[in-house]
Amino acid sequence: MTRRTFVIAIDGPAASGKSSTAQMVAEKLGYLHVDSGSLYRAATAATLRDQSDPSKWTEQAVLDAARPVELRAARTSFYPLLEGRAIEDEIRGGEVTDNVSRVAQMPRVREWVNQKVRDAAKSRNVVVDGRDMGTMVFPDADLKIFLVADSRERAARRLRQRGTPASQQMLDDETMRITERDARDAGQTVPAADSVMIDTTGLTQQEQVEQIVTLSKQRSG
Ligand code: C5P
Repeated sequence: MTRRTFVIAIDGPAASGKSSTAQMVAEKLGYLHVDSGSLYRAATAATLRDQSDPSKWTEQAVLDAARPVELRAARTSFYPLLEGRAIEDEIRGGEVTDNVSRVAQMPRVREWVNQKVRDAAKSRNVVVDGRDMGTMVFPDADLKIFLVADSRERAARRLRQRGTPASQQMLDDETMRITERDARDAGQTVPAADSVMIDTTGLTQQEQVEQIVTLSKQRSG
């Protein structure tokens, strides 16, 4: 069956501003935001509850642990629940962030995430963000955006988001963490040939959002 909803796919590397931008674009257009990374994070959090040693995780163990994860629609976004409870703080913690790329390498886990994201888009107009939304999950998306930004700028944004004053050392450490995650995620972080690349290094969030909203209105008009 052909899809009747409007899909905007926003991809890019860690801390490129995908999720916050996608959320603001969704609110402006009256669409729902789907953060695909939150599902990889939820599967990781669920497995951490079951098994403490991530080096021993099998694909089947992750899929079993992730079974009680569901994606629930709220007013402006979908968000993951684990056994019926919101898990936002848990999925943003350091332990999940350190292990999520391992889970994201598992092909059946990727299928599990992709199916949940596609189901969300069946009946609602959505702004989806991740790494491979425009390539693997919605190759027919109505608009595809690929956000890039300098790694030091991404690290500075991450630290600002946390709200703690950052020293040069903290900035160096965060830049290194982001560069390492880029390397681990490189395989799936590939721009679609028909995506619009936006370098956000010198842009404000508002400017990024406006650019995407304008492009979207051109496509849907
Ligand atoms: O976007 P976020 O950084 O929260 O994603 C967490 C992790 O989930 C990424 O580091 C990556 O390993 C994985 N991911 C992915 N494909 C997506 C979204 C996220 O592999 N579409």
